[in-house]
Amino acid sequence: MKGIDIQTIISASVTGKTFIRLILSSPDDKKGDLNKVTVRLIELKNGPKLSFLYTYRIKTETKNHDIKKGLALAEELFGNTLTLCVIFTTEADYSFRRTKKGKILFKKSHPAHSESEFSTEHNMKKKRMISLDNNIYLEGLGITKNGMLNEGMSGKFRQINRFVETIDGIIDSSELKDKEKLTVFDMGSGKGYLTFSVYDFFVNGLKTETDMTGIEYREDLVRMCNGIASECGYTGLKFLQGSISDFDIPACDILIALHACDTATDDAIYKGISSGAEAIIVSPCCHKQIRKQFHIENGLKEITRHGILEERMAEMATDALRALMLEANGYKTKIFEYISDEHTHKNIMITAVRKKKTAEHSVYLERICCLKKFLGIKKFYLEDLFR
Ligand SMILES: C[S@@+](CC[C@H](N)C(=O)[O-])C[C@H]1O[C@@H](n2cnc3c(N)ncnc32)[C@H](O)[C@@H]1O
Repeated sequence: MKGIDIQTIISASVTGKTFIRLILSSPDDKKGDLNKVTVRLIELKNGPKLSFLYTYRIKTETKNHDIKKGLALAEELFGNTLTLCVIFTTEADYSFRRTKKGKILFKKSHPAHSESEFSTEHNMKKKRMISLDNNIYLEGLGITKNGMLNEGMSGKFRQINRFVETIDGIIDSSELKDKEKLTVFDMGSGKGYLTFSVYDFFVNGLKTETDMTGIEYREDLVRMCNGIASECGYTGLKFLQGSISDFDIPACDILIALHACDTATDDAIYKGISSGAEAIIVSPCCHKQIRKQFHIENGLKEITRHGILEERMAEMATDALRALMLEANGYKTKIFEYISDEHTHKNIMITAVRKKKTAEHSVYLERICCLKKFLGIKKFYLEDLFR
C-alpha cells in the first residue's frame, strides 16, 4: 500500500489524462443525509476543476473545486463520511474500502470504462449543458447581455441548468435514451426560459432531433417566443396560444410543466398520462384547489389552524395525491427539491417515468381515497379529470 493513496492516484490520472471519474459511496451513517458523491474533471474558463456532485437523500448539489482542494476533499470524505471510494481511469480501476475497524482495503482491477470517456472536452462536446456563448435566446429573454449574465439572473440561470441536468438524468435512465427523435410539450411555457434551454440541450447537446411545443395562455409571450425561436433557427420549436386543458396533444415522449398555476399542473399531468408520455416532469406552483377543501377532523387540526402550515400541508397533500395518481397510471415517481430554496421556494419537482409493468390501478385509487378521507377532501381535480 506504500505510495498508493487516493490523492496520488487521482492526481496522477488527472495529469496523465486518464481520469474518468471517482465515486464515493456507502456512508458510515446509513440513515444520514449524504448517500454518494461523484467527482468528474471539467474544464472551465479559469482552468480545470473537480466537479463534485453530492447525492443527498432528497436532493443533489454540485460544487466545483480547484484540483488541489478537490483532492483533499475527496480524501476527507473517504476518511470521515463515505467508506467506499472507486477511482475509474482508462488504465485501471482502483477501489478503497474503509472497514468498521478503520482498516483500508485496496484493490486494483481492469478498467470498466473505455478511453473515449476520459476527455472532459469530449464529454462537454457530447453533452453540452446550456452555454452562455453566442446564445441568442438567453440574450432575447434578457438573461444575458453580450454573453454575460445580467444582474440578478444567476439564480434563474442556475435553475435552468439544474432543470436540464434533471431531464438529462431521466433520459439517461429511461427508454428515451435510445430514441432518435423526441416529441416534447412544455405546458404553461411562459417566457420560454426552460423551453428554449431544453430544446437547445436536446438538439445541440444530445444531438437528438426534437419536435417541441410550448403551450401558453398569453398571446404576447407566444408571439415573443416564436420570434426568438425563428431568430435562433430552431425549426423544431414552436409556441401555441391556448389553454392546456383545450389542447389534444398527440403521442408525446416528454411532458413538462414548470410552475403552471394551481390546477394547470393537474391539466398538464392529465395530458401527459393520456398521451402515454414516457416521462412527465412538473414543478407545481400554488395549491389552492386542495387547500380550500381541507376539512380536518383529527389531530392534524393542530397544524392547519396556522395559515402558513395549512398552506404547506396543502402543498404536500396535493403533490402526494398527484404522485399516487401517476403511480395508478403506471409511472414510477420521485418528489424532490430540484434547486435550493434560496432561488425559489417553488422548488419541488415531481418526476414520473413510465414503468414496463402496468400498475395495480385499484390499489392506488384506494390509497388516494384514504388520504382524501383523512384530510376531509371531497374533490381532487386530477382524479376528476379521469372520470
Ligand atoms: C409562473 S409561469 C411559468 C413559466 C415557465 N414554465 C417557467 O417556469 O419559466 C406560468 C405560466 O403558465 C401560464 N399558464 C397558467 N395556466 C395555464 C393554462 N391553463 N394554460 C396555458 N397556460 C397557462 C401562465 O400564463 C404563465 O405564463
